[in-house]
Amino acid sequence: MTELDFSLLAAAQPVGTTAEIMDGVREEHRAFYSAYGKGFWVLTRYEDILAAFQDPELFSSASVNALDPEPRYRWIPEMLDPPEHTGWRRLLRPHFTPAAVKAREARVREHCAGLVAGFAASGGCDFVADFAVPFPAVIFLELMGLPVERLDTFLAWERAILHGPPSANAARMAAMGEVTAMFAELIAHRRAHPADDLISDAVTWTLDGAPIPEADLLAMCLLLFMAGLDTVTSQLSYAFWHLATHPADQKELRADPDLIPSAVEELTRAYSIVLPGRKVTRDAEFAGCPMKAGDMVMLPLTSANRDPRAFTAPARVDLRRPHNRHLAFAAGPHRCLGAHLARLELRVALEEWHRVLPPYALNRPNPTEHTYGLQGLNTLPLTWS
Ligand code: HEM
Repeated sequence: MTELDFSLLAAAQPVGTTAEIMDGVREEHRAFYSAYGKGFWVLTRYEDILAAFQDPELFSSASVNALDPEPRYRWIPEMLDPPEHTGWRRLLRPHFTPAAVKAREARVREHCAGLVAGFAASGGCDFVADFAVPFPAVIFLELMGLPVERLDTFLAWERAILHGPPSANAARMAAMGEVTAMFAELIAHRRAHPADDLISDAVTWTLDGAPIPEADLLAMCLLLFMAGLDTVTSQLSYAFWHLATHPADQKELRADPDLIPSAVEELTRAYSIVLPGRKVTRDAEFAGCPMKAGDMVMLPLTSANRDPRAFTAPARVDLRRPHNRHLAFAAGPHRCLGAHLARLELRVALEEWHRVLPPYALNRPNPTEHTYGLQGLNTLPLTWS
């Protein structure tokens, strides 16, 4: 058993560092134990990570963060196991089907085009702050029925929850408290004044014939808040970092917009941002490891999706890659509920950018990435003429 020094991943690193470290580790070890934090197993290969996602009976979602085995929160539906999980998915699904997402496309495109028009003439922007943050965040706030004017406050809470180091637990819990209080207010308001949004629907839901307790509705809101606010931001930042630093790929996409849906899959595969965790429910040998009930396991998607056993030349981005069965949205019962929405936002962003803006490039040396919770870029200064 080896240890990967996870503190290496804590500091801001040049883009691509995490993926490269994982590539090295995966070829040496199918799985290993890290003593970082309270200690956890790490699976490195596609087949094992897929199998773990598909076996919720052995790999529980009671904790989904390998660094936090005893969470004092319970995000719904992400931290529920079947069968409890199944009822929630049934309730939430109508808001995230391909048809429901398609119905939002015109608004998504209008918002995207408005943002791009705002900086197109200025010759450059910080892609993260000027586009990748406000684009998906506003769409998400509208879906939920939250006030767009408070976006900056929401983002500060979300950063404290998802991007603080493990030591900043007090700040994380305080921010979760703020988010929960805000949703409690919104729920009370929507009970009295229903509108056309997810919360107005959620207050009418029942599970097993009984109304849903307020605490559970709030736990669901908290999860959606985190899942909806910065996943697409991170994914977009990596996609545009790639295109800014690989002009031939950018040119190909510009010349052939029909390539965009396949490019979305490939950029999502090559730059996978989520590091899910699971909690082992009973003593079992898995991937050659003697796992014990209560152990945590990390399932790094970036490692699964760059496994040469599953993908030809995985470190190379091939915008036309066939049979791209990547795990960027996970697999099994917790497969990302927002995947259709995320794909739509990524596609529309690539379409609008390349329709309106001339070729763009990175304005400074390689920016840095952060790895706690979700991987993402800190800034991405782009320039065009
Ligand atoms: C590119 C963007 C996105 C990526 C890469 C992503 C990835 C993931 C992954 C890997 C999971 C599984 C986590 C686990 O098994 O522990 C997940 C779950 C989830 N995602 Fe996403 N996500 C994205 C965008 C979104 C968006 C935009 C929403 C909603 C607005 C969303 C809502 C959810 C929900 C509700 C779950 C929990 C599903 C369940 O537990 O049944 N995601 N996502």
